Amino acid sequence: MMEIALPSLGLEPQDFHLGVLQTYDPMRIVFLGPPGSGKGTQAQRLKDYLQIVHLSTGEMLRQAHEAGTTLGIEAARFMNAGQLVPDDMVVRIVADRIRENDCQRGCLFDGFPRTVPQAQALDQLLTQRGTPLNLVIALEVSEPLLVERLLARGRADDDQQTIRERFRQYSRQTQPLLDYYASRGVLARIVAEGCPDDVFEQIRAAVETAAGAPK
Ligand code: AP5
Repeated sequence: MMEIALPSLGLEPQDFHLGVLQTYDPMRIVFLGPPGSGKGTQAQRLKDYLQIVHLSTGEMLRQAHEAGTTLGIEAARFMNAGQLVPDDMVVRIVADRIRENDCQRGCLFDGFPRTVPQAQALDQLLTQRGTPLNLVIALEVSEPLLVERLLARGRADDDQQTIRERFRQYSRQTQPLLDYYASRGVLARIVAEGCPDDVFEQIRAAVETAAGAPK
């Protein structure tokens, strides 16, 4: 972590505690968690805190659909059924995105990877660049609370039947990634049932531990 002289900026030590002007070496962080666990909500906050790129594959696919691209139209068939978009399509859009310059300052992966082949592809992409993953944050929320949050939000894929299928896909295809990353020593599990501020405080602590900074 880089330190900035406080007096010259007219700041007090508590400003640093709040995250004002905290700067870290570039980090690569993955958000894992079932639908509705708060990946998007917390990734947005962490993006603002760390000033790094937030890369949400769900958002990228929805934007591709809105733009009417072939990939977006094809992806929407899977998304509307609550199924995962095929690995090769998702890996392609992530590989293109992380080649852009702004990703050199670090990257938050929200909703990617979601399968073991995607995790292997990400490892390969990052290893080629000499910038491995620093941290995987797994958000844990009970299923009844997840359903409550998703129904209250009401996105196109938030109806009862699609939510059920999304949960099924998560437990079959994404949950194995918890072991995958635990065995690599980069996994932080966070109970994400409290209010967004409380959840973020736990995430901030996990990031500081991974960055090697004092809490
Ligand atoms: P994606 O957009 O990634 O959706 P998801 O994983 O189902 O996640 P959600 O956006 O539903 O939930 P979230 O965890 O981000 O929670 P959020 O912060 O929004 O993917 C959509 C689809 O795209 C997939 O089903 C798949 O088809 C495809 N796709 C995407 N990536 C893919 C990949 N890598 N491979 C293959 N296919 C892929 O919060 C949810 C709600 O809860 C919000 O209303 C929020 O305000 C509220 N909330 C959040 N935190 C709290 C809190 N602490 N307390 C109270 N309310 C809260």
